[in-house]
Amino acid sequence: MPFGVIYIAIMPTSDTGLDKTLAALGVTEAAQVVPRFAQVRSQFDGQFQTVADESEWKIFRDTWLGRKSGVLTLITDNWLKPATPDLKRVVGQQLNELRAHVESQIEARRLTVESGAEEAALARDRVDLSLPGVLRLVGSHHLIRQVFQEIEDIFFSIGFSIVEGPEIETPYYNFEALNIPEFHPVRDDMDTFYLDSKGAATPLLLRTHTSPMQIRTMEKQKPPVRVIVPGKVYRRDNPDATHSFAFHQIEGLAVDTDITFCDFTGTIEYFVKQFFGPSVKTRFRPSYFPFTEPSVEFDVSCPFCAGTGAAATGGSCSKCKGAAWIELFGAGMVDPAVYGFVGYDPKKVSGFAFGIGIDRLAMLKYGIDDIQVFFQNDVRFLRQFP
Ligand code: FA5
Repeated sequence: MPFGVIYIAIMPTSDTGLDKTLAALGVTEAAQVVPRFAQVRSQFDGQFQTVADESEWKIFRDTWLGRKSGVLTLITDNWLKPATPDLKRVVGQQLNELRAHVESQIEARRLTVESGAEEAALARDRVDLSLPGVLRLVGSHHLIRQVFQEIEDIFFSIGFSIVEGPEIETPYYNFEALNIPEFHPVRDDMDTFYLDSKGAATPLLLRTHTSPMQIRTMEKQKPPVRVIVPGKVYRRDNPDATHSFAFHQIEGLAVDTDITFCDFTGTIEYFVKQFFGPSVKTRFRPSYFPFTEPSVEFDVSCPFCAGTGAAATGGSCSKCKGAAWIELFGAGMVDPAVYGFVGYDPKKVSGFAFGIGIDRLAMLKYGIDDIQVFFQNDVRFLRQFP
């Protein structure tokens, strides 16, 4: 029988006459008192066995021992207190016996219920070593981070060190010290995200390339300089398959007293072969950057069609569009004008710099045709590059 039913059953006091005085129940002799108490006690005994858990036990305890309206309080108020002097002694004695019984049984029940709860909790928490384990997926680096690491390792192995710089820059480092004065048309392409820099000594912007770190590095150290600078850059470009407004670059800079154009092309060629494999070929074409002179654009023979321009299935290669070459990144010999901004003597030093767009390089190497997937964090994409 559920305990709720017991609780309701014990509370109506009319069966046992708990709501009436003994006189009202017609009890006038001691011999009539004992059966009354026996009836209450047998009700108690029948019910307490069914108390199954702690919350039921609490209700049961209050039903019998509650100060205001528990059964024993009702007996005290309705039977004992108004009893005639003849009956008082026997009622008191019966009540004491009943109280002792009720209290001891309720305490015994508490111990039973508690140990039952403990056992249930133990059973619940028991570790079953025979069950199959919970498979926790191990995360991995984002593909862009992996490509950064790959490029860093290659340059590290030939003596370059890795430095990082601020993503919030001043126009001086992002433009002017790179030989891009305010009126220069090249700024149109790079005019970008300016920050609300009220009160700052100079306007602030999100860097548009990693090249400002050329200046910051040369300001800090004398030649020889051999660094690469991985990092995020920002441009006001509309998103499409090859453009994002936030993307990644690695800047490279080598400056010393005797660095030639041959060192420059040899270094780039070494990097490209390490990155794409020994069979790729490189070529460079004239280009223009205000901070390099001469400036070049590096191309690599298409790694998808082995530089043939033809797809294996016939027709032209879809990646290089049949050109056999793919444009990789811009670079050049550091323009002597830049040395003037960092206190180097352009007559004594020479060097080269390059700026690689990591996202497009990763797309090329791993055959990804939309740059946006790098930023969408779709695990179905990310899991393909564990
Ligand atoms: C520059 O940013 C120069 N600072 C590179 C450089 C460094 C030249 C040192 C000479 C010496 P450019 O604007 O071409 O150059 O960008 C370099 C590379 O960034 C591009 O080749 C391309 O791979 C990548 N890139 C440019 N714009 C985006 C864009 N919106 N989304 C994704 N990648 C981009």
